[in-house]
Amino acid sequence: MKNKLESIREESLRAIREAADLSGLDALRVQYLGKKGSLSAVLKQLGSLSAEERPQIGQMANVIRASIEDALKARTEALQSALLERKLQEEAVDVTIPGKKVELGARHPLQIVWDECVDIFIGMGFQVAEGPEIELSEYDFDRLNIPEGHTVREWTDTFYITEDEKVHLRCQTSPVQVRVMEKQTPPIRIVSPGRVFRKDEIDATHSPMFHQMEGLVVDKGITMGDLKGTLNVMLKRLYGPDTVTRFRPHHFPFTEPSCEVDVQCFECHGEGCRVCKGEGWIEVLGAGMVHPRVLAGCGIDPEEYSGFAFGVGLERLAMRRFSISDLRLMFENDVRFLRQFS
Ligand code: PHE
Repeated sequence: MKNKLESIREESLRAIREAADLSGLDALRVQYLGKKGSLSAVLKQLGSLSAEERPQIGQMANVIRASIEDALKARTEALQSALLERKLQEEAVDVTIPGKKVELGARHPLQIVWDECVDIFIGMGFQVAEGPEIELSEYDFDRLNIPEGHTVREWTDTFYITEDEKVHLRCQTSPVQVRVMEKQTPPIRIVSPGRVFRKDEIDATHSPMFHQMEGLVVDKGITMGDLKGTLNVMLKRLYGPDTVTRFRPHHFPFTEPSCEVDVQCFECHGEGCRVCKGEGWIEVLGAGMVHPRVLAGCGIDPEEYSGFAFGVGLERLAMRRFSISDLRLMFENDVRFLRQFS
């Protein structure tokens, strides 16, 4: 039995010394010290020994157990520190390698103007509202007081989605007015930037897809003075404090009265030049007092409330702002163009 124990000691200590990893080491612990391990197997036979042999062998077994435990502990520590060493080496950072350049993109000129417009209105207490690009004709036409037979409803102007003319790609952001008013009770102050679609041939000033920002204010006692004051703030913020504006009577079915707003040409200051095509003024947006019929159609009493609305073309703002002469540049995504705005 002594021999047996001796060989267990030799074998186990060698195996432990040679163990390659922690899980192998754990298997050895079970193999030698476990309940069903080799040492236990020997100890189970103690009963068959003589009274004087028993304590000797028992003591020897205890010493061996202790040395196996020590060996396991030492090998565990060695493997752990080797592991840590390897990890530290693998994860080492060579601070002498030149850094990677971060290629930062640029905001699209349209996005710059979009963000700027939204910021101006958020500063005046407006909220941003959203509406679908695929819109019901009910919202884009009927409830905006645009009658059957109006030219914008024609198939040559509008991208219909359904044969029955009930669904189309919205041709303006104005349906968002209706969507907001039918849900929200005044006071209402929202802007809604987004994409709109019209069947226009592509050229330097036209695109079948472009962007507008709608604005809507409804409350008690809102007047044309509020409209003018608010839009003047926006245009002066965009074009500078000396910007001169002009409100010119116009017609939109969903506002009454309606106007178009021009800014005096920044190039010739009203004299007339190439930039303003000899006009002295550049048209920038459409606006007006929300038509009582539109208010009533959304469940808002026009006797109690009034409001103003406006719609501004974002491409046109961006083109003026950055002196971009051709609208197509905006959508071609040529990096040589886009890079100029970083
Ligand atoms: N929706 C109009 C257009 O696309 C602009 C507009 C909006 C006019 C709101 C008045 C009020 O031309």
